[in-house]
Amino acid sequence: MHLSTILAVPLLAGAVSAAVGGPGSQVEQQTRAAAAAAAPVIVPGNYIVEFADGHDTDEFYRTIAANASRKMDLNFKLFRGASIQFHAANETSASDATEQLAALPAVKRMWPVRQYHIPEHTRHWAGDDTSLEKEGNSETARRAAEDTFSTHVMTQVDQLRAKGITGKGVRVAVVDTGVDFLHPALGGCFGPGCLVSFGYDLVGDAYTGSNKPVASNNPPMDCNGHGTHVSGILAAQAGSNTFGVTGAAPGVELGMFRVFGCAGNVNDDVLIAAFNRAYEAGADVITSSVGGSSGWPDEAWAVATARIVANGVPCTLSAGNEGSNGQFYASAAADGEGVVSVASVDNTLAPTLFTKASYVVQDAAKVNTSFGFTAGSPANWSGVSLPLWAATFDTNSQTDLCDPLPASTKNLTGNIVLVRRGTCLFTIKAQNALARGAQYVIVYNNAPGTLQVDVSAVPGIKGMAMVTPEQGAAWIAALARNETVLVSMTDPTTAPKVLSNLNNTLTGGFVSSYSSWGPTFDVDVKPQFSAPGGQILSTYPRAQGSYAVLSGTSMACPLVAGVYALLIEARPDLRSNPAALAALLSSTAQPNLYNDGTSRKSVGRLAPVSQQGGGLVQVYDAAYATTLLSESSLSFNDSDHHVAVRNFTITNHGRTSVVYTLSHVGAATAYTFLAGSDITPAQFPLTLEVVDAIASLNYTTSDNNSGSDGTTITIPAGQRRVVQVSAEPPAGLDATRLPVYSGYVAINGSDGSSLSLPYLGVVGSLRSLTVLDPVQTYLSKVSLSRANASVTTPPSTARVAPNTLFVLPLRLPPGQQNLTETQQVAVVTANRTTSLVQANLNLVMGSAFIRADLVPIKLCPAPPTTTSSSSSAATSTAAATPSIQDILGYKTFGSIQNFPVYYMSRDTFNATWDGGMADGTYAPPGLYKIVFHALHIFGDPAQPSDYDIVETDPFRIRYLDLPSVLSPSTSKKMLRRQRISECP
Ligand SMILES: *[C@@H]1O[C@H](CO)[C@@H](O)[C@H](O)[C@H]1NC(C)=O
Ligand SMILES: *[C@@H]1O[C@H](CO)[C@@H](O)[C@H](O)[C@H]1NC(C)=O
Repeated sequence: MHLSTILAVPLLAGAVSAAVGGPGSQVEQQTRAAAAAAAPVIVPGNYIVEFADGHDTDEFYRTIAANASRKMDLNFKLFRGASIQFHAANETSASDATEQLAALPAVKRMWPVRQYHIPEHTRHWAGDDTSLEKEGNSETARRAAEDTFSTHVMTQVDQLRAKGITGKGVRVAVVDTGVDFLHPALGGCFGPGCLVSFGYDLVGDAYTGSNKPVASNNPPMDCNGHGTHVSGILAAQAGSNTFGVTGAAPGVELGMFRVFGCAGNVNDDVLIAAFNRAYEAGADVITSSVGGSSGWPDEAWAVATARIVANGVPCTLSAGNEGSNGQFYASAAADGEGVVSVASVDNTLAPTLFTKASYVVQDAAKVNTSFGFTAGSPANWSGVSLPLWAATFDTNSQTDLCDPLPASTKNLTGNIVLVRRGTCLFTIKAQNALARGAQYVIVYNNAPGTLQVDVSAVPGIKGMAMVTPEQGAAWIAALARNETVLVSMTDPTTAPKVLSNLNNTLTGGFVSSYSSWGPTFDVDVKPQFSAPGGQILSTYPRAQGSYAVLSGTSMACPLVAGVYALLIEARPDLRSNPAALAALLSSTAQPNLYNDGTSRKSVGRLAPVSQQGGGLVQVYDAAYATTLLSESSLSFNDSDHHVAVRNFTITNHGRTSVVYTLSHVGAATAYTFLAGSDITPAQFPLTLEVVDAIASLNYTTSDNNSGSDGTTITIPAGQRRVVQVSAEPPAGLDATRLPVYSGYVAINGSDGSSLSLPYLGVVGSLRSLTVLDPVQTYLSKVSLSRANASVTTPPSTARVAPNTLFVLPLRLPPGQQNLTETQQVAVVTANRTTSLVQANLNLVMGSAFIRADLVPIKLCPAPPTTTSSSSSAATSTAAATPSIQDILGYKTFGSIQNFPVYYMSRDTFNATWDGGMADGTYAPPGLYKIVFHALHIFGDPAQPSDYDIVETDPFRIRYLDLPSVLSPSTSKKMLRRQRISECP
């Protein structure tokens, strides 16, 4: 089982391990923030519409003309539709209009627009190779010439490359942030004849997801870095770079479809357009390291992507970097049907770029010894030559400098403080050193390799750097002997650099701890398989250093796209057969043992299929396999829907008859919940428990062989046979904790072939799970000025007390908008003092359908008719009021605006409310509660018992009204009267 690489590997992406309780650092905190940002956001008032075939779309555009505008045409062979945006002034009637629109014959389907974040990844370092020392060069040049790039050795890419297979004639389209095609390792030009030969900029530099994308015919340049790194993993050209960076498939024709501006997000209308443009540009493979939590293959982007796959073009997408969220956290569009979701394993090497410096142990041999450091920020190390000082000589200290130093500590102005990484933030350690006068700090790592540490938030610190645990230990040993260690630092911007390929003996070859787990909510197997994504050296924009080591499933995905290109060159007959290509890669992939990324806790079992899919891809084996399976995985679903028998077909493409022996290799079973009473899935690896329990499989073959392990099937050359598999789930599991069992059907042929088919199933009932947390679902108050403030200062989500009064903004009904400029200013000013109701929902499991209905408890009497008619726009609440309807057993005013919502991921989400109802009316002033209905997984929308129901505390609403705004004295009086009135 591919354990040759259980050396010891530092998950330098220490970033990630710490996010789940490992050694603390800022990096870990950033990673946690990134995970929280993984949930795509629904963009209010924006919809993707798909047109039905052969219907008049003019009618559609006529119907929307008054209320909405066309944002983006999605006029493609495989997706004909548009995205539309309701006008701000009419947003309140958007939901109403959507119902009308959805009913038009021209409309096949409608989805709200979702916004995805710019891909998150951990950056270990970035730098160029110009000051790389010679000793590094010869090694890396040799590696490039022979392709001994570690990620290629891990995936057998090196073996196909040795046969001259480079992806020639295969068009691979990347959907990402753009590419620095002027980079010497990426061809240096754009267009026909160049490495980056096709593509399109769909958005322009200024696009943020919240403004209009401006497509252009300018080449898709990269101002972020992500897309350039991804492109290099796929196709970088060796030879021109001393780091020896080479892509998996440098012979491909690379296309870049740019969907991000320099910062910000992307909406899925742009993503759908990019994928379809790539398809129509003749791509043989489409890859995108973009995504967000979902788990629902029916979301717009996943549906559009699955359709491209169904039309013969494999699509590879990153599985997501939210491994810490545990099981059932699949991402869009990787979760689409037939779409390949790529998990990440850690590189066996940690390529680390060090700046060279030196030190002398003065009381010893006084030899000048060189060492390498990774500069942090700030990095004013030029000319700094000072003796080291350490607070403790304990190289296992967990809390070094986490507490202030005693007042008796000497003044550290004349020292560099050496401190061990761990537990508290780097800024805390720096602060504690600074408090005793220190200006320079070197951290030695508690995990292999180094990180770029940023303590620029601590003014007074002039230099920060990190060294390896080994270097730290050597210095501490000398200090403990009471020797003086004089360190002479160098300027990292000019000093020579060394690239060290440190062995990752802890996690190399194992699934990266950040890699997101499946399966989907309908128990489709995700991810499909894995590739190296942790600690990956690749190209980076020239302006940002030219090369960088990044970690993420974003880095695994393009390697798999390169693997597809090699496989298509090797097996051209399968060029337009995504299912066959996926089955080949899955059946030849190498599953690896479970590893929690921190302490090598092991149950001696393979990692669950919900984490690693088929395992690490082995493309040489896939290229020359003569036995093909019809499936890339099997799902036995949950206990309610247990599939008694799954079929798959074995085809023998060899020249002789082969006897295949079927057997079973179980993987570790992973509990979704820590305890049966939990409603939030366990975190990996902090609380997620895996146990040594496996299913028993039985096989029935067409030669009427039936039985368990050892069952055989004989298949003559050129023929195919069906195998039936049934799974008896492991006994003795706690079904209330929703264990996911999994493993591999091993298929070993008399011709030496050896394949494995991953399967999984769930013990317990997904339909009975709580999806909406009743405790963490509540209302908060958002002042309107904050609601419109920048997204960087999100409004408070503090729960309001029962019976809280919300004074909602003034609305101007149609026909009442003829105010003078002064009056308009008065309205805007007055509205700033109002608030919106914010619904906060905590979805602990995904829900395909969530209602929010307004239940009146007591309404205010109709407002007194105002006589102070100082303007023609006298009344403000002339709008129609909603009527009572019976919804799932509640007497309600119906759905509030922006609800219901569909296909929601397992995350928290918020929606603000200004009193508007989905039918375009406004709720009159009064006392209310909101009732949320969240449909269970596998639930029936018509069945009240299939919902989680959460009722909010009662709350009161009023509207600021026009007469009071225009007459300040009236305003105060009226508001006071409203507050003291009998009205609830
Ligand atoms: C809002 O809708 C009304 C009626 O549908 C229409 O007359 C008005 O022009 C719309 N307003 C805007 C800003 O589009
Ligand atoms: C340490 O000494 C320097 C200069 O000698 C002085 O500026 C600084 O305030 C001192 N710091 C402490 C914490 O004593």
